Amino acid sequence: MAAFMSCAVALLAAPAMRPLGAVNRLLLNGSVSRLHGRIEAGCCASVSRSAVGRRQYKPERPPSGRKGDTAAGLSLRDFIQRAPGNGVGAACGTAQEAPPYLCGAAVSGGGRRVYFETYGCQMNVNDTEIAWSILQKNGYVKASNCAEADVILLVTCSIREKAEQTIWNKLKQLASLKSKRTKSQVPLKIGILGCMAERLKEEILEKEKLVDVIAGPDSYRDLPRLLTVAEAGQKAVNVLLSLDETYADVMPVQVNSDTKSAFISVMRGCNNMCSYCIVPFTRGRERSRPISSIEQEIRMLSDQVLQIIQERANICKQIHLPAQSGSTAVLKAMRRGYTREAYLELVEHIRRIIPGVSLSSDFIAGFCDETEDDHLQTISLLRQVRFNVGYLFAYSLRKKTHSYHRLQDSVPAIVKQRRLEELITVFREEAAQLNSELIGTEQLVLVEGASKRSKLELCGRSDGNIKVIFPNVEVPCDWSSRMLAPIRTGDYISVQITFASSQSLKGIPICHTTLNSSAKMISKQLRAVSSGQ
Ligand code: 5AD
Repeated sequence: MAAFMSCAVALLAAPAMRPLGAVNRLLLNGSVSRLHGRIEAGCCASVSRSAVGRRQYKPERPPSGRKGDTAAGLSLRDFIQRAPGNGVGAACGTAQEAPPYLCGAAVSGGGRRVYFETYGCQMNVNDTEIAWSILQKNGYVKASNCAEADVILLVTCSIREKAEQTIWNKLKQLASLKSKRTKSQVPLKIGILGCMAERLKEEILEKEKLVDVIAGPDSYRDLPRLLTVAEAGQKAVNVLLSLDETYADVMPVQVNSDTKSAFISVMRGCNNMCSYCIVPFTRGRERSRPISSIEQEIRMLSDQVLQIIQERANICKQIHLPAQSGSTAVLKAMRRGYTREAYLELVEHIRRIIPGVSLSSDFIAGFCDETEDDHLQTISLLRQVRFNVGYLFAYSLRKKTHSYHRLQDSVPAIVKQRRLEELITVFREEAAQLNSELIGTEQLVLVEGASKRSKLELCGRSDGNIKVIFPNVEVPCDWSSRMLAPIRTGDYISVQITFASSQSLKGIPICHTTLNSSAKMISKQLRAVSSGQ
C-alpha cells in the first residue's frame, strides 16, 4: 500500500504534469473522475521466446525449501541477473509468425459480443480495460450481460484460495448457460484471463472442458488470435509471461462508461517474493511503464474531463489553475514542478477544448530571492493569460516548510507589498477588460440570493463563475411567455449584461430559463458567430 501511495504522489508530482494535476484536483472535487496510481504483481521465470516479439519468460518451479533459502529456487539475484539490458539471460524473442490464416481480417471479432466479469484487485480492473481495448479494436462489441454474450471472459484472481473457488463456482454456472445455447446462435466461448489462467492452465483445461481460451496477464495482445482459434473449435492457450510487456501503447477503454474512477497502471509484475504470495508467479517480473506513456494516458484522462466540462451545461466553465509565479526560476524554487512555458501551454490547451473558459489563479508576490525580472515575468503572465478571477498574496514565511529551512526570505516587506500591488493592478486591468467584453451579451445566471449592497438587487453567478448583480423584478417565465414570475434563489435567469468591473458584472434580467434552453441558445449564437452572421 505504501508503494501504491508513493507511486500515486510521484505521478502527480512529475515535472510538467503538475498543472494537469490542478485540473485533476478539480475533477476530484466535482467527483467526475479520479486517478489512482497503482502497483501490483509478480515474477519468477526463465526467458523463452516471444509470441509477439517481446522478451518473454515462463514460470518455472516455484522456489522451495526453508524461508529465505533460495538454493532450491530462484532468488531476487536471478531476476537481477536476467534484468533487461544487462545482457544476461534475457534472450530477445523473435516474433513468432502468426499463420497466414490467422492474420488481419481472419482474427476480427466480426461484431461478436463480449462480456467481461472482473474479479480481484484494481490491477485486474485495468487489465480488463486493456483486454477490452484490444478486442474493441479487433471488431468485438460489448455485451451488457452474460445472457447476450457470444464470448464471456473472466478476469481472474489467484491471490487467496477463496478467490479461485469463486471462479470455479462461476464456471459451473456458465456451463449451464453454454449448454442452453441454441443451434441458431454462435457457440458461446468462455475464456479465463489473468492470474488464475497463469497458475492453473492445465488444471482448468482438464477440469473444465467448457473453457475455450486461457490467457495469462501478459497475453492480452494475443486475445483476438486465441478467440479465432477457439472459434474453430480448438482450445487456445497463451500463458507466456513477459519481461517487458507493459501494454504501454494500449490505451485502456473503460468497460462500464458510468464508472467514476480511472486507474492508471504504472508498473506490472513483482520481484518481492514475499514468502506467502503467489503474485510473482502469476504476474511475472517487475517492469515499469515508460513515463511518457503514463503521461500520455493522464493527459488523455485530463482531456476527457475538459471535454466533459465543455459538453455539459450543468458544469461551470471555470477552472482554477494556480500559477503562483510567471518566472520559471521562481517556480523551480517553489518546487512547483512546471515551467512558465508548460503553464502557458496548458492554458492554451484548455482554451482550445473549452473556448471562453473562465480561468482563476493564485499568485505569490516576493517569494524567496524573487528578482525584479522574475516579478516582471509574473506581470507578463498575468497580461498574457488574462485571468477572470485572481487570488494574490505577499509571500509569508511559514515554519516547517522547505523554504523556511533552505531558502532566504530575502525580499524586503516593502518590496513585497509594492510588487503585490502591481500584480493586483495588472490582474484587475485585465479582468475588467475581459468582463467588459461581456457587455451586451446575455448570460445564464444561477441566482444565489439577495445582493449584499441592496435589497432591491439580486446576486448570482455566470457560467464562468463571475458575480452578476441585477434588479429583483418579476420576469417572463421563458423566452416566449408573457406571464411574469418572481425570481427566487436557485432559479436560472437570462441576464443582459450592461456594466462590468474587474470583480463583477451588472445587468438586466430578461427571463427565466433552464440549463438546456440556455445551452441551445449559446450554441446557436456560437454557430452564428462562426458562420459570420
Ligand atoms: N505565503 C503566501 N501565500 C501562500 N500561499 C500558500 N502559502 C503561502 C505563503 N507561505 C497561497 C498560494 C496558494 C494559496 C492557497 O495560498 O498562492 O495557492
